[in-house]
Order: sequence, then structure tokens, then C-alpha cells
Amino acid sequence: MAQPAFKPNYDENKMPAYTLPNVLQLPGGQPVTSAKQWSTVQRPAILQLFKEHVYGQMPGKPRVIRSVVRSVDEQALGGKAIRKQLTLFFGNGDDAPNMEILLYLPKTTKPAPVFAGLNFFGNHCVSNDPGILLSTRWLPNRNEQVVTNRATEKARGMQASRWEVEELIAHGYGTATVYYGDLEPDHATGWQTGIRTTLKDELHIAPEAWSAIGAWAWGLSRLMDYLETDPAVDAKRVMLHGHSRLGKAALWAGANDERFAMVISNDSGEGGAAIARRMFGETVERINTSFPYWFVGKFKSYNQNENAMPTDQHMLLALVAPRPLYVASAQDDQWADPKGEFLGAKEAEPVWTLFGKKGLGVSAMPSVDQPVGQTIGYHIRTGGHDITPYDWQQYIRFADKHFRKP
Ligand code: GCU
Repeated sequence: MAQPAFKPNYDENKMPAYTLPNVLQLPGGQPVTSAKQWSTVQRPAILQLFKEHVYGQMPGKPRVIRSVVRSVDEQALGGKAIRKQLTLFFGNGDDAPNMEILLYLPKTTKPAPVFAGLNFFGNHCVSNDPGILLSTRWLPNRNEQVVTNRATEKARGMQASRWEVEELIAHGYGTATVYYGDLEPDHATGWQTGIRTTLKDELHIAPEAWSAIGAWAWGLSRLMDYLETDPAVDAKRVMLHGHSRLGKAALWAGANDERFAMVISNDSGEGGAAIARRMFGETVERINTSFPYWFVGKFKSYNQNENAMPTDQHMLLALVAPRPLYVASAQDDQWADPKGEFLGAKEAEPVWTLFGKKGLGVSAMPSVDQPVGQTIGYHIRTGGHDITPYDWQQYIRFADKHFRKP
């Protein structure tokens, strides 16, 4: 029998009753009272809950990681930037699983802080720069840009509006990106050709012990491995960012890997920054039905059963503490539950307080286009599900505040 169509709830008055787990309460009921207790007991325990119930295990590095330079242009973007392209191999030999890295750096003598994130359509999608190598991987078909699952020349710059490469360079930041499909193509059987299969023996992990979001997040940590080896990069100032499903992956990577200095969630919604128990817009059941491979099997047991989860997404955001965290929403992106994203940040705030840091510094959700926050930044902007120049202006300002102190 056909399933009835999913009808998202967009009415605050129809919210189910819920009680959130307290981020600062130990399993035995005692409160977490010190930053040390958070770091040594509560943080590892919460991370473990997310591994078991939501995103799966996070394997370590392969034994061999090799970067092979594909091209370097010292005069990229009209002479304003250096462009490097590399392949990062996970193992010996040209046929080892690998991912392609695109890196732009400002022309400075000092190591540059860098914004790092995955892209949706191949590295060529982030800029019209004709020097970017066209990805040869599987891509989701789109108009004349991706035909029979391969990029055409028309795919260049197809998501350039979401990247602001030149703006970042002008502000002294580099930008590093990898196509998420290099880790795992985003479809139901993508795991069969992605690293969950090709690296399963190397990483000693069964494909079903982790998830597509896990594989994408793992790739971000490997990108960090590379950035740590590049003397032109200040690896202590790498700002991780991601939009939507890639925002979920960025949060999961930032939770696992504390080398990232700051984490930005752009419209990450369900399974990202939004409180799942609100069941507003997309729900656990809906995301598990549309994208079952994004999460581990156990997560399905919470379909319409959110109150039984030992986690909620404020706990994921809390794992970024005490590092700077930015959560952004968009007014017309109700599917991602902007209010739930704000509340995710708000409910995570006590952990920053424990570290003596000011978090959001507001008790109520701000109005549109009114960014707030100290160590946790938040805004809801006008417009829909996207990354816009407005979003980037806030991220640059926030990074400047935390990492460019005079
Ligand atoms: C779908 C999905 C969301 C996801 C979004 C995206 O809308 O339901 O969970 O964030 O795609 O990645 O753009």
C-alpha cells in the first residue's frame, strides 16, 4: 500500500511536548560542574552517543596519505591569489582511493588562515576560474551542466555564488575545498564505490558501521591532515563550513576533530543544528526515508520516536565548545526549522559558559538580518535555502573577531 504523503508541520502551536536531554547532566544524573569534567567525561560520552545512534563510528587515518600536486598557479584570479590543486591518495599507488583538493591562498608572507568545506558539484563548481580541473567523478545530473553523471564545461562556476572566493582572498583568508562525492557519491548505493567500501579493510570498519555523513566528515579531517602539511597554511586557524547536508557533515567533523578552530553551520536543519524533537519541517522519519544511507541503521529506530533518543542536536553543537561556532538560518527555509536551529545553539550555550565564554548572549531569537553572539554566532537572514554574500559577510566578520585580533 502506498504510504500517505509526508506533511511537514509548520505550526508552532502543533509542536509535540518534549524534554531535551541536559548537555550538562551526567548519565547518573549529577551535573557537570567544570570544564575539565566536560572535556574528560561528558564530551567523550556525548560523542559516543552520536556514533552509536546517529552518524556511526569514525575511523582514523589510513596508514599512507600522499599528496600529489596537480597544478600551482601563482597568478590566479587576476594575480590576486595562489591556486593549488592536489590529489590526496589514501594508500600507495595511482589506483588508491583519493580525493581532489582545490586551495586558494592570499599572497602573504605569513601562513594564511583558511576556510575549509566540501562542495556539492566538483571543485570546478566553486569558481569560473578556467584553471580548475574539471572533476571526472560521478555527479548528480543537472541541466546541461552535468550530463550522464559527468561534468561538462558548462559546470564551471555553477555554484560560484555560494563561494565568495575573491572576497575571502581580499580579507586575507584562503579557501580549501573537496567534492563530497570523492568520499561517497550521494545516492543509495554510493557507499559501494565510496570509501566505506574501498577503504573498509584499510580502516578496519564495515560499511554499515558508519554512514555517508560519516564518510564526508572523515574527508574533512583528511583535508585538515593535508592543510597541516602545507607551510603556506596556518592550520591552527582553519574555519570549517558547510551548507545543508554538508553543514551536517561539517558539524560532525568539527565534533570529532578538534583541530578545526571554528565551525559554521549554514542552514544544516534536520540532523544538523535543528532540534529534532520539535518535529518542525523535516523530521527524523522523513530524513531517514529520503536519505537512509546518511545515518546509521540505529537512527531509524527513532522515526516518530524522537523522545527516545539519548541525543538531540544541541548536544552535537555543544561538542564544538569552547571553539567559536556559527549557526545560520534563512527565513524562507522552514524545512530546516530556523527556530529549531536557534534553539539548538541556545541549548548548547551552557557548555561555553562553563568555559567562561560568552555564547549567544541573547535569550530570544533575533529578528531577520540581525546577527547576534559572541563565541556562538547566529543569524537568520531574509531569503531561502542557500549560502549568500550576506552569510559570508557574517562568517568573515566572526572569523576576524576571533582570529585576527590585532
Ligand atoms: C534536502 C534534505 C535536507 C538537506 C537538503 C540539502 O532538503 O531533506 O536534510 O539539508 O536536502 O542538502 O540541501
